This record gives sequence, structure tokens and C-alpha cells, in this order.
Amino acid sequence: MDKIVKGPSTLFLPKPVALITTAHGGRDNVMTAAWVNVVCMEPPQVAVSVRETRFTHELLSASGEFVVNLPSGDLWRAVDLCGMVTGRDRDKFELAGLTRERGREVEAPLVKECPLNLECRVNASLPLGSHTLFVGLVLVVHLARECQGERGRIRVERFHPYVLNHREYWDMGSRLGYFGETASELEVIP
Ligand SMILES: Cc1cc2nc3c(=O)[nH]c(=O)nc-3n(C[C@H](O)[C@H](O)[C@H](O)COP(=O)(O)O)c2cc1C
Repeated sequence: MDKIVKGPSTLFLPKPVALITTAHGGRDNVMTAAWVNVVCMEPPQVAVSVRETRFTHELLSASGEFVVNLPSGDLWRAVDLCGMVTGRDRDKFELAGLTRERGREVEAPLVKECPLNLECRVNASLPLGSHTLFVGLVLVVHLARECQGERGRIRVERFHPYVLNHREYWDMGSRLGYFGETASELEVIP
């Protein structure tokens, strides 16, 4: 494969797209984040990297809590909008047509329209430069019933997740295989 050599950058794809909700002192907010992922299994933890200038950074630092809301592809326009406008002086839920839903463990609201919501409490934060990495312990998970399949399977086709590929939102396409599929074939590999 012929490669172009580039300087250091954050070029990395695909990235998941999430809505991060926060609340503190009678205010709440919703912000789009693509620098978000799972970082530990036991105990379950996720991390999000938030620029210090964001209103979300302020609420998250003050409250020590956040919710990661994973949207379906049909929400992409609302999600894009929540990444274009600050909630410092306007209600982005209203602007983007999103609905607040009460969580169980944290003050930050869930986004009702998102099929998956992870309520988190900050376990560690690490200032990295422009962004702070917030690692959150997952306290409760909410999954849309219609996305729950048999034997713990997630019905991905109903969830309809999507990703950010550089500066474009893309659908996930079709299934390539199963997790661990190669392991079942190991015995026949000479
Ligand atoms: C697709 C997308 C992904 C984004 N990912 C991040 C991110 O991971 N971290 C971050 O700090 N800002 C990210 N942003 C930018 C913020 O969402 C944006 O600055 C937002 O207006 C901040 O809102 P707030 O001031 O209400 O917190 C992203 C924006 C978009 C559109």
C-alpha cells in the first residue's frame, strides 16, 4: 500500500458520535462529542475529551457527572447542531428538538430520543492541553427495549448507529462478521 506521510494530527477514523449531557447549579446542557469511547471493563468506564472553552467543560467539572447518549443515524442533524452552538446562553434541547428525561443516579438529563444512555460519575480527569479527558464510571445503562435482542444481543439494525469519518457522517453499512468468529476457525487453520 503506497502511503502519504503526514505530520502529527488527530486524523483517526471512524469515531463514534455521542451527545454528552451535564447539569449543575440549576443549568443543564447537551453537547456533541466524537472523542468518546469505552476505556475499562471492570469497573465499566467510558471517557470523553472536552475542550476547556466548552460550557460542558464548566458543568462537568463542577458536577463531576455526565451522561453519554448514543444517537441513531436519524438524529444526525440534531446531533450536528448540538456541536455547532454553545448552550451557554440558549437551550439546545429546544433548539435541536430533543427531550430531557430524568436519570436515576445523576442530575444530568438523558436524551430521550437516544436508544442508549450511560449515566456516569467522574472517576478521573486529565488535562491534556486543549482538551481535558474525563473518565466516567458507568453507574446505570438505559437501552431502548426494541434494541434488545435475544441472549444479550443488541439489534444493531434497529439501533442504527452511525460514525464520523473525518468531517462526514456515515452509516455503518452491513455486518462483516461476528466477534470471536475467527477463534472458532482456529482448529482448522493448519
Ligand atoms: C461531530 C462533532 C463532534 C465533536 N466532538 C467534540 C469533542 O469530542 N470534544 C469537544 O470538546 N468538542 C467537540 N465538538 C464541538 C462541540 O460539540 C461544540 O463546540 C459545542 O458547541 C460545545 O457546546 P457547549 O459550549 O454547549 O458545551 C464536536 C462537534 C461536532 C459537530
